[in-house]
Amino acid sequence: MRVLSGIQPTGRPHWGNYFGAIRQYVDLQGEDESYYFIANLHALTTVRDSVLLAQYTLDAAIDLLALGLDPSRATLFVQSDVPEVSELCWVLLTGTPMGLLERCHAYKDKKTKGLPADAGLFTYPVLMAADILAYDADTVPVGDDQLQHIEVCRDLANSFNHHFGQVFSIPKAKILDSSAKVPGTDGEKMSKSYNNTLEIFEDPKAQRKKIMRITTDSRPMDQPKEPDTDHLYQLYSLVANDPEREAMAELYRRGGFGYGEVKKALADAAERYFAEPRARRAELASQPDRIREILADGAQRARKKASQVLNRAKKACGLVG
Ligand code: TRP
Repeated sequence: MRVLSGIQPTGRPHWGNYFGAIRQYVDLQGEDESYYFIANLHALTTVRDSVLLAQYTLDAAIDLLALGLDPSRATLFVQSDVPEVSELCWVLLTGTPMGLLERCHAYKDKKTKGLPADAGLFTYPVLMAADILAYDADTVPVGDDQLQHIEVCRDLANSFNHHFGQVFSIPKAKILDSSAKVPGTDGEKMSKSYNNTLEIFEDPKAQRKKIMRITTDSRPMDQPKEPDTDHLYQLYSLVANDPEREAMAELYRRGGFGYGEVKKALADAAERYFAEPRARRAELASQPDRIREILADGAQRARKKASQVLNRAKKACGLVG
């Protein structure tokens, strides 16, 4: 299996990013080959500040490494360090029907809201197709919001192959397991745009404060409660170990507890759960040169693969002899 996915560098990762995606990437890095890149070209459609974009990109690399991505098992690189992808993007843009892109959510949503959209946003799915096809990826782990983009990629690859001959492997999406649903501090889905996140690397004291402010219902202390539908319990079960989780579920079903003690237990468990990545992150952040080396090495490996595929595509359509 050749696995590939891109991660947009958009600031500090939260629990939703970790349990919903990053942890699953880390689990997949044992596959035959895996490529993970920081999608800074895609981020450029929204992050329009040079200092911020550069900082977010480096931070994303540090975060992924701290959370267990191992550069000796997975190829980790920055999207723009592989210019072959942008060249392949142009090749794919020719022959992409306008209507196909007009139907894509990100662009359509902006348009229906009457917001201005640029050509970068419009052609975003084609760059994403180039990302995937450039490495002959066969498995693309993504959230279900990206499924449409994978379909576009398959369409473009198939029609190119049909017209110019067998050049691209046809990838499949692997929908990330969202059973580990991560609620935010207000009980809604955790999301940066809802301002309800718990960040992985925030100061434990600040995080504890946030946890103590999580909204709860007004259930009387003595009444039992079903744990699985309670967002406080759901958060706790992400960071607690098995015996702790069972003991807490038991407490919920028995009743006679206050949410205050659950919050305290949650803060303790979270601090413990992320202690190691946090220490690793601090160490990595103090060695930016090492991070750059890892990324340069990843880019070199990625370019080797991407240039083969690009060459195949260019030959097929008559750009090189
Ligand atoms: N668009 C993806 C997201 O926002 C990121 C991404 C860019 C990506 N290129 C990709 C994901 C290629 C998978 C494959 O999450």
